[in-house]
Amino acid sequence: MSNSIRKWVFVLLVPIVVLGILGSVGGAGHKLPLQSANVDVHDTASLQRGFKYYVNYCMGCHSLKFSRYNRVAEDIGLNADNGFSEDDVAKLLKEEIIFTYDEEGKQTKTGELMKNAYSPKAAAQAFGTSVPDLSLVGRSRGPDWIYSYLKGFYLDPSRPTGVNNIVFDKVGMPHVLGNLQGWQVLEHAEGEGEHHGAPKLVLQKPGKLSPAEYDKMVRDLTNFLTYVSEPAQLSRYTIGIFVILFLLLFFGVAYLLEKEYWKDIH
Ligand code: HEC
Repeated sequence: MSNSIRKWVFVLLVPIVVLGILGSVGGAGHKLPLQSANVDVHDTASLQRGFKYYVNYCMGCHSLKFSRYNRVAEDIGLNADNGFSEDDVAKLLKEEIIFTYDEEGKQTKTGELMKNAYSPKAAAQAFGTSVPDLSLVGRSRGPDWIYSYLKGFYLDPSRPTGVNNIVFDKVGMPHVLGNLQGWQVLEHAEGEGEHHGAPKLVLQKPGKLSPAEYDKMVRDLTNFLTYVSEPAQLSRYTIGIFVILFLLLFFGVAYLLEKEYWKDIH
């Protein structure tokens, strides 16, 4: 290797190594690595389950203020392509998804935004913090974070809600899925000196679901929130394929034209 190449390799490697060391020191506190959510926004059955879980377990507190019920239903496969008439979908939404009513007692319409009745002020009083709208959380936090968060609640008597969270220290949200997942505690493996070993979550009291069933449920929820944060991703791949097909066709035509133009000149 010549000297100048060696110098460049050095210049590039040093910051990487330094950042790596800083990163691992910073992460040594209470954190566990994020778990991989492996979501698939094209798995419509999973999105449909996620939609249902979301309105049942989350929407009491978290709105999705940019989404409309009927648009979500259409996007995630409850549509004519799959044999659902508009009436079928409206019926399904009214019976299984929409639980809110206006002041006159009329059920929220299927074309309305997924806002909920919890006012920010009431939430602030109840939880000492605001309850965020989750429309964009799939992008701001990412699927792996959401998945790890929903699996990361553990008992902590020092907290007002009785729980803390491994990826969100001192979280204000109660563990609303606690009866399903069960209740975990945070344990530290034996470490040397005053340093604890790696922390790990241990299920102390099992819930109604097995760990595998709970993982599946929170994966569906994560998948749904990932879709909600960018509905266009469902159609983007199809558009991409058309663009590539078009470019290939155009290349073919351009090539034939080029041959035609130059054939008498050579
Ligand atoms: C009882 C009300 C309540 C319910 C029900 C609830 N949450 Fe929360 N959630 C909160 C509060 C309050 C916060 C804010 C926590 C904080 O800032 O400390 C929060 C925060 C979050 C965050 C982190 C947002 C961010 O970027 O900081 C996510 C993700 C989340 N909730 C997902 C869910 C999901 C999924 C469900 C349904 C399984 C759910 N929540 C049900 C009250 C609730």
